[in-house]
Order: sequence, then C-alpha cells, then structure tokens
Amino acid sequence: MTETIDINITKTKHSKIHEADLEKPQFGSVYSDHMFLADYSNGQWQDLRIVPYGNLSISPANTTLHYASTIFEGLKANRSADGEILVFRPDANARRLQVSAERMCMPPVPEELFMSGLTELLKLDSSWVPSAPGTSLYIRPLQLAMDPYIGIRPSNSYQFLIITGPVGAYYAEPVKVKIETKYTRAAQGGTGFAKTGGNYAAALKPAVDAQKEGFNQLIWTDAKTHEFVEESGTMNLMFVINDTLVTAPAGDTILNGITRDSIIQLAKDKGMKVEERPVRVSEVIDSIKNGSMQEAFGAGTAATVAQIKLIHHEGVDYHLPPVEDWKYSADFLDTLTKIKTGEIPDPHNWIYKI
Ligand code: COI
Repeated sequence: MTETIDINITKTKHSKIHEADLEKPQFGSVYSDHMFLADYSNGQWQDLRIVPYGNLSISPANTTLHYASTIFEGLKANRSADGEILVFRPDANARRLQVSAERMCMPPVPEELFMSGLTELLKLDSSWVPSAPGTSLYIRPLQLAMDPYIGIRPSNSYQFLIITGPVGAYYAEPVKVKIETKYTRAAQGGTGFAKTGGNYAAALKPAVDAQKEGFNQLIWTDAKTHEFVEESGTMNLMFVINDTLVTAPAGDTILNGITRDSIIQLAKDKGMKVEERPVRVSEVIDSIKNGSMQEAFGAGTAATVAQIKLIHHEGVDYHLPPVEDWKYSADFLDTLTKIKTGEIPDPHNWIYKI
C-alpha cells in the first residue's frame, strides 16, 4: 500500500553530514539533510514531497503562530549491527497523531501517508542514522494549521512535515524531580492526552522555576486536588514498589506513551506484576520513607528510561535507594535498546525495517 503513494524528491546539493558529530550528537541541535512535507487543502492531502531541510515561509497571520494549532510526534530509528535501519513502533505514532488531530480539530494524516513519507525520508537520509551506543535518529513528525487567518475557527489548510536528526541521551544522568502542587499541566476535559504544542509551552514556567531550585523536571499532579501524580515533564512516570510496576493510567490528562506501553508489555513478558491505577502523592512519599519504593523512573521516546534519584515534595527531599543497585529500570532500558538495535528478537513486531 505504501509504495503506491507518489512522493516528489528534490535532493540537496550540499549535504551537512560531515559537520555533524554522529558519535556524540546533542539532543535537538542538528537536523538531517532532508525533510518530508505534505499539504492539505480542498479536503485532501496533496503535493507529497521531500526537499532539502530548510526554513518554512509562513504568513504572519498564520493561525498556528497565534493559536498554537499544532500537534507532533517523537519516534526513533536505530542502526543494527549489520547496518539495517530499524524504526521503533512508527505505526503507533501514526495512530497517536490522529488521536491528537481529532482533539485539535485537524484532519487526520492517513497512516499510509505517514509511513510512506517516513520510509522515503529515511531511505534518503539513511547515513544520518548513528550507530554509537546511546545514539539514535530522532524523528519528529508535526502537523500545523496553515490558514492566514486570525479569526477563531478550524483552519482549512494544513501542512504535515517530518524532520529528523541524530541524538544522544536527553538526560545524561539520573534526575531530581519536584512534585508540582501549584501549577497544573492538564485538567479533565483538556488536551493533556494530545501531543499539542500548547501543553509544552504552558509547562515551561513551572519547569524553569523548578530548574532554578535545582531540579531537572517536575512531577505533575492532578488539577483538582494535587493529590495524585500524573506524568513527569517529557515522560510518563513509573514506580517499582514491592517488585510491582506501578504507573498512573493513561487517559484524559496523561499522554498515552509508546515507551510506557512497551515497558508495561516487557514487564508482563518477564512475569512482573503491573498495576495501572491512580497513584497518590502520599503513597509515593510513604513508599520512599518505608523502603518499599525500589525504583522510580520516567519513560519516553526522547528520554527512553530516565531514572529518578530524588523526589522533592513541599520543601522536603526524598532520596531513592542508590541507582547503581536498580535492576528493573536498567533491565527495561537494556531490553528495549537491544530490540531497537536488532540485537535480540522482537516478539511484539515493534520494529519496522526501512
Ligand atoms: C518525546 O519523548 O519524543 C517527546 O516528544 C518529548 C519531547 C517534548 C522532547
């Protein structure tokens, strides 16, 4: 099905790959030579094309610039030992983009279009997929409203793009997080489950305030009572309490993370008990205090598995046991990495080969 979609390709005359550090790429600082674009107008997606990576020309009245009518995804490709390009669960990202689109009143990008654009782009820029340990090609699909109109209504025109760039670790070491009880990331009936720009823009001030206090990220709590933990910055939140994997249910206010889903599956594969249920702040604190909290970590595409060494709540620092002794999160990261790089079998058909 994917090969029937026509994509016009214009190659760059000046590859930038020799300027990029593929051994130690920094997250989000370098982009590959090409990008994929498709336009939506008159009720259909058209003009599918790959062009040299470059700036967009946008009207100052563009509705996205004013009203944040934008959604995005994040996924990764890795290079296997024999040089194949392996993408992790792109079909899940294509589907989640459609879920975000529905909430934001945007037309869905068909899965075939998403997959064709991705496939052709990665074929062309395959040399940008790094192979050093801890590195990947980060893939950022995004969809923008394009009408040059500053009244409030859904746009009639949209653009879908895919850009990519080599990345290393998002968090270089275990993180310190603060449980946020003043600001709110998402409320019932809002856009918390959608991957839309405004969720991230609104989170900046509380995150920057926490960084000034020495924390890497926040743990968001529910908007109504601030008594339940939700997600952490750019990641879903997971705990190991008494050898059970505990995580808040993805729903209205929590992003349905693909890394989260993968870790839950890996835990079940390993015979570990998994509980997806509301998690009280008091349970988190009490479990650290009484020693039943063995591990806490964030799970996300960019962050992969980010171990949490300290949780701060209302003026008190709670230290987790020494991260070096943790076996569960280290094992999840190791298994995920090996599946992503083709080192071990892929029992759930998560890998898409380019
Ligand atoms: C990802 O993990 O891919 C994300 O989209 C988080 C991000 C905002 C860096």
